[in-house]
Amino acid sequence: MSTDLAKQLREGTTKSHSMAENVSFVKSFLGGVVDKKSYRKLVANLFYIYSAIEKEIERNKNHVAINFIYFPELFRQSSLIEDLSYYYGVDWLSQIKPSSATQLYVNRIHEIGANQPELLIAHAYTRYIGDLSGGQILKKIAINAMNLQNNLGTSFYDFRAITDEKLFKSEYRNALNNIPLNDKQIGQIIAEANIAFNLNMKIFKELDSSLIKVMLMLFISSLNNLRKKFT
Ligand code: HEM
Repeated sequence: MSTDLAKQLREGTTKSHSMAENVSFVKSFLGGVVDKKSYRKLVANLFYIYSAIEKEIERNKNHVAINFIYFPELFRQSSLIEDLSYYYGVDWLSQIKPSSATQLYVNRIHEIGANQPELLIAHAYTRYIGDLSGGQILKKIAINAMNLQNNLGTSFYDFRAITDEKLFKSEYRNALNNIPLNDKQIGQIIAEANIAFNLNMKIFKELDSSLIKVMLMLFISSLNNLRKKFT
């Protein structure tokens, strides 16, 4: 028996998707405005999020629903560690901490991993299928905007164990449709995917305000320099 979970996930999150596209951090990123300090904070937040998702998927890999979407070739933790080492240096771990929105996200993942593992499907879908859909474009933008060289700082976008991303996405959608789920569970998974989008938006909004702070500080310091010049 198969369901149309993949289609329902796409249709059920269309509104959230366009809301996410309109958060100004995301819009600026897409327009090529990427501040290295905000970007490395995003990478740090993603490290905590993917570590939680992957820990819970690993813990639940024999669960009747989760075993259908157990694809370790998607796991991002080690690629994020490579990027963190590039942006922060070898002692990256001592320099990062999860933002408050990230902590909320991580708590949510552990809570459902322990109590309702099938909802992890929503989080895996939102992040991994999103990454497979827009990753290569975002990678190019990041390289140009931050003037990155020699393929450094963008490991997150490289799914080295996946040769054909389009084909993989279609296999993933097939796997989603074959998970034995009833209508109530499907409804809960769609609702959880919207929560996942929302949690991602919270993180982008936090980064927005830190970007605004940096710009404000730069503006104030250039005003001070001007004042010094003329007094
Ligand atoms: C400006 C920002 C974004 C743009 C331009 C964008 C663009 C796209 C495009 C063109 C697709 C369709 C790809 C295809 O059909 O193969 C897609 C799919 C998707 N995106 Fe995004 N995206 C953005 C932000 C996000 C964010 C922030 C998330 C979640 C954190 C996300 C999650 C997804 C997911 C889950 C899909 C798969 C939809 C499906 O077919 O089921 N996207 N995106």
